[in-house]
Amino acid sequence: MNSSMKRNPPRAGVLFAFEGIDQSGKKTLSALLMERLKQVGIQGEIISFPDYTTPIGRELKFYLAGEREYPPQTRHLLFAANRWERKRDIESWLQGEKVVLANRYVASGVAYGMAHGLEKDWLWNLEEGLPKPDQTFLIDIPPQVSFARKMKERDLYEEQTDLLKRAREAYLDLASEGHWAVLDGTREMESVFSDLFGGVMEILSSRGYKIRPSPRTHP
Ligand code: TMP
Repeated sequence: MNSSMKRNPPRAGVLFAFEGIDQSGKKTLSALLMERLKQVGIQGEIISFPDYTTPIGRELKFYLAGEREYPPQTRHLLFAANRWERKRDIESWLQGEKVVLANRYVASGVAYGMAHGLEKDWLWNLEEGLPKPDQTFLIDIPPQVSFARKMKERDLYEEQTDLLKRAREAYLDLASEGHWAVLDGTREMESVFSDLFGGVMEILSSRGYKIRPSPRTHP
């Protein structure tokens, strides 16, 4: 998280963001996490960006399928605008003391924008005013692993090894600046999840969440 960004206003919920290049396991991990949170009595919501269900999200889907062309700044404004379309929902979940899991969030805008050669500060400014994550988890994998996990039907960005390499580098740069938790996503899912769950529980306990004992210890 950019240290120059203003602090969040007080709120009751917790927002966790999951970042990483394609095929890093973000969606699987957040779905497992939501299941486990429910088992320990914690209410939550999952949101994924791009959110393809909104008007701007539908436009992004066309772009990612190669059916639209935009200059780099315009498309990154669209990616950010797509998050602004969901701002009120995220805020209301947080006010309702929910744990919100975001599959890709503000840092995707910044990392992929940087990978396309855009200015980091310009990119962060587009996100200024959105709820800030309490913790960002970077599920780190190299592009070769992303390709090995999904060989066909890759979208416009997924096809480009150099872009993924630059996005990964940008993520690692942002992670060290923003004190994110970096998890080695090349490991078995169970092992990545166990680290993730430990980190999440620590934060939730420190924020006063009541955690009901769960019989299950593995995903
Ligand atoms: P997805 O595969 O997770 O649905 O994301 C589609 C692509 O959009 C992915 O390659 C990353 C890219 N992206 C950005 O460039 N900026 C953003 O702000 C977001 C959310 C995604």
